[in-house]
Amino acid sequence: MERIYLIGFMGSGKTSTGRLLAERLGFGFVDMDDLIVETAGMSIPEIFSRFGEDRFRDIETEVLKRVAGESNRVISCGGGVIIREENRRVLKNTGKVVYLRTSPEVAYERIKGDANRPLIQVPDPLAKIRELMERRRKWYEETAHLAVDTDGKTPSEVAEEVLNALRDR
Ligand code: S3P
Repeated sequence: MERIYLIGFMGSGKTSTGRLLAERLGFGFVDMDDLIVETAGMSIPEIFSRFGEDRFRDIETEVLKRVAGESNRVISCGGGVIIREENRRVLKNTGKVVYLRTSPEVAYERIKGDANRPLIQVPDPLAKIRELMERRRKWYEETAHLAVDTDGKTPSEVAEEVLNALRDR
């Protein structure tokens, strides 16, 4: 098992759960959003506002392909990584993909007011979250080898569940 990819909507706990998983497995931890920021030399809101979402997605694909070549990593992916068919293929073929599932309400509570997430800077963020989740759900489900519900659980409980499920496979 060389790579574990965590996918799921913004606010599903990919980063906090991923850090714990990496620690327990003795793997390195990679946050794709951090790598995107580093690669672009600017923040995510800045990439969106100056170059648009398509450019952001291009950098995301480039970064994904780079991390897919690294071993023993837990990788926290941006919530939209599954939009592109090309990315879904890379994820599925190069590691174990774990979907952290959240309800729109819990995601909203966790990410509301976060200026670093350009897609929810709209008058009605909860409605936007519902719409995006609805559109993406099938991609999360079809890309994942394993799905874990996260509502009401701590990152540590989720990490434990993921480890047990991976062990049983
Ligand atoms: C996005 C999720 C974000 C980040 C960008 C776009 C999305 O990552 O990549 O704002 O399309 O859902 P997180 O899921 O880590 O917040």
